Amino acid sequence: MISAKNISKKFGGKQVLFSISFDVNKGEILGFLGPNAAGKTTAMRILTCFLLPNEGTATVAGFDILEQSIDVRRNIGYMPESPPIYPEMSVQSYLEFVAWIKGIKMKDIPKRIDAVMEKTSITHVRDRICGRLSKGYRQRVGLAQALIHNPPVLILDEPTSGLDPKQIIEVRELIKGLAGEHTVIVSTHILPEVKLTCERVIIINNGWIVAQGTPENLTQKIKGKERLQLEIGGPGEEVKNALRNVPGVANVQIEIHELDGCFKYIVETEVKADIKKNLARIIADNKWDLYEMRTLGMTLEEIFMRYTTGETFTEKEA
Ligand SMILES: Nc1ncnc2c1ncn2[C@@H]1O[C@H](COP(=O)(O)OP(=O)(O)OP(=O)(O)O)[C@@H](O)[C@H]1O
Ligand SMILES: [Mg+2]
Repeated sequence: MISAKNISKKFGGKQVLFSISFDVNKGEILGFLGPNAAGKTTAMRILTCFLLPNEGTATVAGFDILEQSIDVRRNIGYMPESPPIYPEMSVQSYLEFVAWIKGIKMKDIPKRIDAVMEKTSITHVRDRICGRLSKGYRQRVGLAQALIHNPPVLILDEPTSGLDPKQIIEVRELIKGLAGEHTVIVSTHILPEVKLTCERVIIINNGWIVAQGTPENLTQKIKGKERLQLEIGGPGEEVKNALRNVPGVANVQIEIHELDGCFKYIVETEVKADIKKNLARIIADNKWDLYEMRTLGMTLEEIFMRYTTGETFTEKEA
């Protein structure tokens, strides 16, 4: 549904996107995750034909952003970082205006307005003046204008920023409800949000795509270190030292001190070595009791920090 190929963007002499390529399948929700100034908004503005790339191109719903920008815009609903509302208009008249601009037939406009108002829970503020709405409601009106022509593709730039916790949950649910029927790209720097709403995530940093995959894939071990959690009945420090001496173990931490002589240990390995067998043997040889041994995935926070701090590196190198 969306296919971006080698998109690069420079502002003046400063390059802010470095040959980014990605695909989004029909009905999928893709998250753009990255710190401030990563290039998320720039990538979205290119896909929505508000900016031209310096290199590369993309197709949206089968149309090329460079050659068929009118068709691309028809097929996209875009919610920019600051919703493009007219402060002096009422919600109703603003949406009528947007519907008209987007070429919806006059006779269909009331029906579409009712539908998007219901979807974004703004029916009760339809006669209010846009400029006097709270930020959360303005965001919802922004979402309503993106949905009004029922586009197959939605590009939502930080749709939950500035909302209160209840509104965040509502907007997340709304976005999740769009999956299947609509293809969605949503940007955020909130990690749990990605896990809750997106099927796939692209992590962008300094204009590079540094990782992509499902939140589950990304939270599993990526390379190198692996972490294991063990629960062992035995003398804490002695067990810890024995585990530490197993070849391939980089670090051992005692997590929780239990009262009945059973401790929890987090073992970090140096390389992707399968050390479980050797850990189990040491425990058995010492006649300690092994209650649990399992691999721990990395948290999204760890993945994010890992990919967005330090020097820039591309996905291939990761
Ligand atoms: N019109 C512009 N002119 C010059 N530089 C720009 C322009 N728009 C964006 N930039 C620069 O491009 C870089 C990427 O900005 P962008 O807005 O895409 O980041 P972002 O990932 O959306 O960040 P945020 O999370 O803060 O919204 C930044 O360094 C920004 O200053
Ligand atoms: Mg942005």
